[in-house]
Amino acid sequence: MTTRAVIRGTGHYLPERIVENSWFEDKVDTSDEWIRSRTGIERRHFAAEGETTSQLAIRAAEAALSNAGMEASAIDAIVVATSTPDLTFPSVATMVQAGLGMTRGFCFDVQAVCAGFVFALANADGLIHSGQAERVLVIGAETFSRILDFDDRATCVLFGDGAGAVVLEAAAGERGILATDLNSDGSYRDILYVDGGVSTTGHSGKLKMQGNVLFRHAVEKLAQTAHSAIEKAGLTAEDVDWLVPHQANARIIAATAQRMGLPMEKVVLTVADHGNTSAASIPLALSVANQSGKLKQGDVVVTEAIGGGLSWGSVVLRW
Ligand code: UT7
Repeated sequence: MTTRAVIRGTGHYLPERIVENSWFEDKVDTSDEWIRSRTGIERRHFAAEGETTSQLAIRAAEAALSNAGMEASAIDAIVVATSTPDLTFPSVATMVQAGLGMTRGFCFDVQAVCAGFVFALANADGLIHSGQAERVLVIGAETFSRILDFDDRATCVLFGDGAGAVVLEAAAGERGILATDLNSDGSYRDILYVDGGVSTTGHSGKLKMQGNVLFRHAVEKLAQTAHSAIEKAGLTAEDVDWLVPHQANARIIAATAQRMGLPMEKVVLTVADHGNTSAASIPLALSVANQSGKLKQGDVVVTEAIGGGLSWGSVVLRW
């Protein structure tokens, strides 16, 4: 029987502070109506002063371990997807390890911006298949509020902070990750980037985005990568029970689902309450959907995401 990486538990954490769309109305020339109708976002969470990405990640990891009924000591590896680490180094993953009181295993971060969780999940799947780890904590955690330009109405209303985590375990059988599809094209660098960094400005910089250009890439590339992953899994769109997409914009999600031939009843939507939490958005949505009892054992779940790079990809799994 084939050994696969099975999700044993999910968990998430959102900072306490909830920021409604109306909060932006006296900061920039925008409206709750514009944000809702163009993005589907109603509110997002922002981390408190001093609250870091690793702190959010640790809370999400604890929730996922508890959901899996596992102790941190059982984990062999931690992979954190983030573009907003606490420090340039060490990795957020090693900070999570220390926060969980683990003294064994190995830990590293993956940086593929909004596609980060899909890339991290595919990497963790590889670690399990190569026999380097049996149980892997895969986390997406971000504090994007730290890199937002609060004078730029085109970007500051879109993003939020949060963390989501899954516990993967090697197991023989039909459940688990069935196929992955990863892509990047660095020639699209200027569509979505942060205008600072270690070897350029020496500080972290602020997010810049050509939203409408990215929108068109997103709809086309997300449907294409999801299709590739579904095909690699030997399935068709008709076999899909749930699409758990990156939560950037409800219009992108609806257009992608339509291209895939999926009704919206099969789509997990959290963008209204979370905004775009970059690498955290898919594990957050998975955890919310799991908590609500939507995901049933044996369901075919498709995740897909696109972000800066551009980088995009999809993971298909049987729940
Ligand atoms: O997570 C990584 C992936 N991210 C994405 O995939 C994001 C992709 N892009 C999008 O979601 C959408 O392009 C946005 C939500 C960012 C923008 O929606 P849009 O329908 O593409 O609008 P647009 O950029 O074409 O702008 C339309 C108008 C512009 O005004 P004019 O030039 O028509 O007068 C913008 O200046 O809307 C204006 N606008 C706003 N108005 C009110 C842009 N942002 C705002 C705002 N409030 N916050």
